[in-house]
Amino acid sequence: MADFNKEGLGNVLFVAISVCLVCSILVSSAAVMLKPQQQINQELDRKQNILRAAGMLSADSITDSEGRGVEELFERFRVRAVNLQTGEYTDAVDVESYDQAKASRVIAASRNLETAEDIATLGRREHVALVYLLETEQGALDKVVLPVRGYGLWGTLFGYLAIEGDLHTIAGLGFYTHKETPGLGGEVDNPDWKALWPGVSLFDESGAPAVRLVKTRSPEGSAAAAFEVDALSGATMTSRGVENLIRFWTGELGYGPFLNKLQAGA
Ligand SMILES: Cc1cc2nc3c(=O)[nH]c(=O)nc-3n(C[C@H](O)[C@H](O)[C@H](O)COP(=O)(O)O)c2cc1C
Repeated sequence: MADFNKEGLGNVLFVAISVCLVCSILVSSAAVMLKPQQQINQELDRKQNILRAAGMLSADSITDSEGRGVEELFERFRVRAVNLQTGEYTDAVDVESYDQAKASRVIAASRNLETAEDIATLGRREHVALVYLLETEQGALDKVVLPVRGYGLWGTLFGYLAIEGDLHTIAGLGFYTHKETPGLGGEVDNPDWKALWPGVSLFDESGAPAVRLVKTRSPEGSAAAAFEVDALSGATMTSRGVENLIRFWTGELGYGPFLNKLQAGA
C-alpha cells in the first residue's frame, strides 16, 4: 500500500476544500432557513417605527400603556398607495409587498429629480408612495404617517413623519436607519430630540413647507418659532439634511398634492 502522506499537497487541498464546502453549505442553509424569520422581523420593525412616529408606542417598549402589541396597534392603520404626482389613491401597486425605496431606483417606477428641485439629494423619486392613515373612533382623520428619506452627512436617513389630523402639525418624526455618527448626527435617535417635534407647524401662510432646524430659537410665541426645532449640536450637515427631507416630502414633489387633496376632504 502506498504511503499516506497527510501533509502532501493533494491531502492539504482535499481537507481545505472539504472544510470550505461544509462551511459554505452550513452558512447558506442558515441564510435560507432564517430568511422568512428575518422578513417577519423586518416587517415588525417597520410597523414599530410607524407606531413610534405616531406616538402610539414609546421608544423602549413593544406594547402601549394598555398592553396592546405592535400587530394589534398597527391594525388600526389603513395603508394606502398614493400617486405622488396627482395626490390620488392608486391601486397600481400591492401595498403588502410594495418597496418604495426600491421603486425609486427603477426608471419606469420613478422620475429623475433635477439638482435644483432635489433638496433631499434623492436622485430619483418614486411615482407611488405608501401612506398610513389612522382614524378616530368617530371616523375623522386622526393622524397620517408618511415614509420620508433624505441625505444627511454620510448617507440617506430613512424614517417616518407623522402628521396630526389637521394636516398642518407634526405628530412625530423618527428614523429607522441612517449612517450618521453616534453622538453627532446619530442624535437624530435621541428621545429628547425626537420629543421636540410634536406640535411643530409644517406650512407657512402660503402653504409652503416651512420647518427649520435652528441653532438659536426665535422668541417663544413669535410666528417663526412655530416652525423651528433645535438643530443637533456639532451636526449641522445632518440637521440640514433633516430640514431638507421634511421640506421635500411635504412639498409639491413629495406628499404635497396628497395632503392638499386630503385637506380638501377628497
Ligand atoms: C469623525 C467625524 C464625524 C462627524 N459626523 C457628523 C455627523 O454625523 N453629522 C454632521 O452633521 N456632522 C458631523 N461631523 C461634523 C462635520 O464634519 C462638521 O464639522 C459639522 O457639521 C459642523 O457642525 P457645527 O457647525 O454644528 O459645529 C463629523 C465630524 C467628524 C470629524
